[in-house]
Amino acid sequence: MASNDMLGKKSILQVLSGDRSSPPPIWLMRQAGRFLPEYRALRADVPSFLDLCYTPDLAVEVTLQPIRRFGFDAAILFSDILVVPHGLGQNVWFAEGEGPKLTPVRSVGDIDKLRPEAIHDTVAPVYETVRGLTKALPRETTLIGFAGAPWTVATYMVEGGSSKDFFEVKKWAYSDPDGFSRLIDVLVDATAAYLIEQVNAGAEVVQLFDSWAGVLPEEMFRRWVIEPTAQLVSRFRAVHSETPIIGFPRGAGLNYSAYAKETGVTALGLDTSVSGAWASGLGLPVQGNLDPAYLLTGGSAMISAAQAVMRGFGDAPFIFNLGHGVNKDTPPEHVGELVAAVRSWGPQKGQV
Ligand code: CP3
Repeated sequence: MASNDMLGKKSILQVLSGDRSSPPPIWLMRQAGRFLPEYRALRADVPSFLDLCYTPDLAVEVTLQPIRRFGFDAAILFSDILVVPHGLGQNVWFAEGEGPKLTPVRSVGDIDKLRPEAIHDTVAPVYETVRGLTKALPRETTLIGFAGAPWTVATYMVEGGSSKDFFEVKKWAYSDPDGFSRLIDVLVDATAAYLIEQVNAGAEVVQLFDSWAGVLPEEMFRRWVIEPTAQLVSRFRAVHSETPIIGFPRGAGLNYSAYAKETGVTALGLDTSVSGAWASGLGLPVQGNLDPAYLLTGGSAMISAAQAVMRGFGDAPFIFNLGHGVNKDTPPEHVGELVAAVRSWGPQKGQV
């Protein structure tokens, strides 16, 4: 949709620069993926998920699929947070139906085996995808690049995959902070370089996914979420001072407040647990936070909940999104209904 700014700035960039937009711009985390039949069809012909991430023509196509269907205000680069450990030389694979698997990194000796200098060679196809997208996207669509934040990527690297209790990574971080911080430092450097290259290739905004920020107690949240994020942000800003950064420390709860003040991110991605009224008091543009489970119900329950989210954010600069990614069992028509409800929102609908 055409931006409603007189200067013609894209609506998402407008909100990220602190202006309000009504109705709010909308995109959804995991808007490309298995809930779309056209994704499943394309994926069936590719041997592995990482091959899809590293084949620019296909990754461009998958990024565009939800834009064609729903006309979202932003496209998110199709890739994965685990291309960074893969680019560092860790063994990463996706076992069908089981999620990601990695040969665990559990000691300083294992860190020393990583090859940070080779990362750009491995992930170069991702930059190629970004370049392809700058040509293929509609003019009004903002291109969002992304990476996992150091803490969340470290959880996968140390646990060797997804985890329920995070005991391996916590044992290391709590008992040997000096050793563990060497892994975090490698990730800060690699992730800053990776995001800088995405912007060089044409990404207009970057989002940092800290999906497991919420499993840490307050002191450890400061040490392993806030500090590395602040370093990463300043490293990135030294090169791209104007590019907005959305930080998404999922599950941060009351720690959102310190995260907003101390990391230097431009905007906050909110999970479902925080209220819009509270979060807009933190003073940054905000993005969120409809529970993705509403996309399974659709209909009036979903529409009322989406309107309550918009009402809750009041006058804050606000981007409509979910509190986490689209679930794979979501009927695509529900996403269409949601986009229509957000686009028809305005003062006449009872917005205060
Ligand atoms: O549409 C988009 O948002 C862009 C693409 C994207 C993917 N992963 C594609 C993907 C993005 C932004 C991610 C981020 C990501 N990856 C996160 C952070 C967000 C979150 O969900 O908390 C995390 C933790 C990962 C790691 C990851 N990748 C896991 C745990 C899994 C397996 C679980 C699952 O949903 O399958 C993946 C695989 C993955 N990443 C798929 C997709 C479309 C499914 C793979 C397939 O098609 O077989």
